Amino acid sequence: MKKLIAYFSASGVTGRAARKLADAIKADIYQIRPERPYSAADLDWTDRKSRSSAEMKDESARPAIAGDLPDLSAYDTLYIGFPIWWGVAPRIISTFIEGCGLEGKKIVIFATSGGSSLPPAVKDLKMMYPSLDITGGKLLNGRIDGDIV
Ligand SMILES: Cc1cc2nc3c(=O)[nH]c(=O)nc-3n(C[C@H](O)[C@H](O)[C@H](O)COP(=O)(O)O)c2cc1C
Repeated sequence: MKKLIAYFSASGVTGRAARKLADAIKADIYQIRPERPYSAADLDWTDRKSRSSAEMKDESARPAIAGDLPDLSAYDTLYIGFPIWWGVAPRIISTFIEGCGLEGKKIVIFATSGGSSLPPAVKDLKMMYPSLDITGGKLLNGRIDGDIV
């Protein structure tokens, strides 16, 4: 069975990490693109009213994804990557997880960040989706090779 890397990247860092990871582990890749792209103002975490601040304050926020979700039938392992926002996964990751139906898949989480560690973000996803098989991978802020679990 094949592996798929699904990633969201607002400013490119996680995208670069995801592409390197895809090369290293020979996986297919899918970009989770927001229907409405995030502007610099949207990403301003110092502004309590910015779009990202509002979404992260609202646990039920589910920003829409552009285009079709991937067909996962050929994949048994899914790597999900994102930038850490306020210590956890951006809400669009929940849009993706809930839209795809990932029961029975092995899910490995990776992320990039400005310094925050990955485990709290993984713990949060496991609490939100207790029936899914979610494993913490690595923070890909540095060197990237195939050894991420
Ligand atoms: C809204 C917002 C919130 C963020 N929150 C955190 C955080 O809690 N901890 C952290 O280390 N970095 C945080 N960052 C920094 C990003 O995680 C980091 O720059 C990441 O590598 C960006 O990835 P991207 O270019 O793929 O979007 C935040 C960035 C944004 C835009």
